[in-house]
Amino acid sequence: MNRKLIAGNWKMNGLRVDLQTVREIAAGLAASTAAPEALLCVPATLLAEAARQASGTALCIGGQTCHSQEKGAYTGDVSAPMLKEAGAGFVITGHSERRTGHGETDEIVAAQARAAVNAGLTPIICVGETLDERTSGATLKVIEGQLTGSLDGLEPNSFVLAYEPLWAIGTGKVATPAQIAEVHAFIRQFLEQRFGKPGQTVKILYGGSLNPGNAAEILPISNVDGGLIGGASLKAGDFLAIYNAAAALTV
Ligand code: 13P
Repeated sequence: MNRKLIAGNWKMNGLRVDLQTVREIAAGLAASTAAPEALLCVPATLLAEAARQASGTALCIGGQTCHSQEKGAYTGDVSAPMLKEAGAGFVITGHSERRTGHGETDEIVAAQARAAVNAGLTPIICVGETLDERTSGATLKVIEGQLTGSLDGLEPNSFVLAYEPLWAIGTGKVATPAQIAEVHAFIRQFLEQRFGKPGQTVKILYGGSLNPGNAAEILPISNVDGGLIGGASLKAGDFLAIYNAAAALTV
């Protein structure tokens, strides 16, 4: 079984006062090497300090997006080498809030993910369908299209995937275990066809209203290798409860 990865996405939340939450989460993680991996993707302004405070603990720190170029005239953007230097180990790419709010296409997402890998980061590449796409029966086609485009030029052991149905993000609506199992199995099959055996061990995270109340039901689902958590990652107690639900599966 893949070691699970429990990842928080703080989105545009977090001031210096919230570094206390980083410390509390770092202090609450298990020391064992079989324990789940834990990651917080914090705003770029907090990254260096969060990484400093997490250093020497099992907690990894990540960014939430990166530009596809290493440097240049891209006002307001952050490059992968910048995130790496600030202490990141991971970066989210292609989150639906970037795809829809910033026009990031599959091609752009793939270029960002390649830039991340080149900088020594592990990209967490997000895919997911809208409610309209689900109700019209297009979910698997949409996911297939996103995977085909967003993984272009990547090696199988260099990235993590996250399935985040858009209608489950920040809504309190969670995909049913059957819906999650179906899409994760489809993604696994896609990865095996594309990469062969190494496709079997690419981590596939579920994201979308994951919380302490549903983690124990979702995390054991076949091909669910962890979670990408928004709202519930802002509270140390909630994040650690989800982490502990994952840890309970590994013992
Ligand atoms: P919520 O957990 O708040 O639904 O957010 C999910 C998400 O978008 C994580 O990237």
